[in-house]
Amino acid sequence: MAGGLDCVVVAETVLSDVDGARGVLVIRGQHLAVIAAGGFEAAVARLWAGFGARDVDPMHVPAALGAARLQAFKDLPRWLPATQKGSVLEGMRLALAALPDDASPPRIAAALPVALAALLRARKELDPIAPDPRRTTAADFLCMARGSSASPKETNALDAYLATVIDHGLNASTFAARVAASTQASLAASVTAAFAALSGPLHGGAPGPVLDMLDAIGTIDNIDRWLEAALARVARLMGFGHRIYRVRDPRADALKAALERLAPAAGRLPFAQEVERRALAHLRRNKPERRLDTNVEFYTALLLDALGVPRDAMVSVFAMSRVAGWIAHALEQRQTGRLIRPASRYVGPAAD
Ligand code: ACO
Repeated sequence: MAGGLDCVVVAETVLSDVDGARGVLVIRGQHLAVIAAGGFEAAVARLWAGFGARDVDPMHVPAALGAARLQAFKDLPRWLPATQKGSVLEGMRLALAALPDDASPPRIAAALPVALAALLRARKELDPIAPDPRRTTAADFLCMARGSSASPKETNALDAYLATVIDHGLNASTFAARVAASTQASLAASVTAAFAALSGPLHGGAPGPVLDMLDAIGTIDNIDRWLEAALARVARLMGFGHRIYRVRDPRADALKAALERLAPAAGRLPFAQEVERRALAHLRRNKPERRLDTNVEFYTALLLDALGVPRDAMVSVFAMSRVAGWIAHALEQRQTGRLIRPASRYVGPAAD
């Protein structure tokens, strides 16, 4: 379908490869399982390696991110007061807009956890908490958001999440980053474009609606009735389907494993798994010609919910990770020096 650019190759990349038929994700030559186990900082270092700038030297990534979080904390007074009555998403857009055009990769990446933690506290009328540059991004974010250290289990769960979703081929937000970078827009501007593309429910904005769906279903007895009615309305079941995968999204299982390590069989998990099982059966009956399976956002919703992340902040936690991928893709796109500019077919009225 031309409108969706399905199967159109618009870039060569060394960053990640998504094999949608086999359900395999490779990030710079490493399988997803290795990336997820290595943690976020190592994944950032791997993605950014070889792109030239001194401050993205892989050896220095953890320290550079820590120092950049301190800088981001100093920047808060420039934009935080303007967000007091706005949504988290609006606040995050303001935080990105406040970045200078010459902001370095670590500074851009670090702005997101610091901004998000401050926004979550601001809406409870609490002051922001200063980062600790010695911590990992996951540990520091949880501490800044909550005001006290998270348990090792919680920190490991968030760290595994951040590593798992760091890059994923030419998804919509990464494409937006590359389009902006191809115009020689700044890295900060390219990330702003990507964040906007991520926020919609067909992409990174799905986890909140996944939880809304689970709430609306409510009880085991209501699952089939609810799913049938939803599919009869041609509604899309949130957390299912994918443009590239024709099998289960491998990130769903990586996050399910992280969730089971965090809280085995606790909270919403058993109910959600029953909904998942029956939703897959309904989707197969409803659309036998199109294989629709569980995507990353179903277990993202459950994992971030178990960590106490509010629904409207989930897409911003996603961005805390994917920003590293956007930056790497923007730097890679810049190296090509080529403007991305597809064509359209005019189907409007002829000129008089
Ligand atoms: N529930 C029900 N039907 C679906 C779903 C779904 N989740 N996903 C696709 N379909 C149906 C479509 O209605 C369409 O039916 P039709 O041929 O009768 O019109 C058919 O399957 C093909 O759909 P497409 O739109 O071509 O699929 P596409 O590849 O464009 O969509 C997308 C992928 C946007 C992710 C889609 O599956 C969807 O909307 N899923 C729900 C939202 C979601 O979970 N988003 C997160 C994705 S993961 C991520 O971005 C990080």
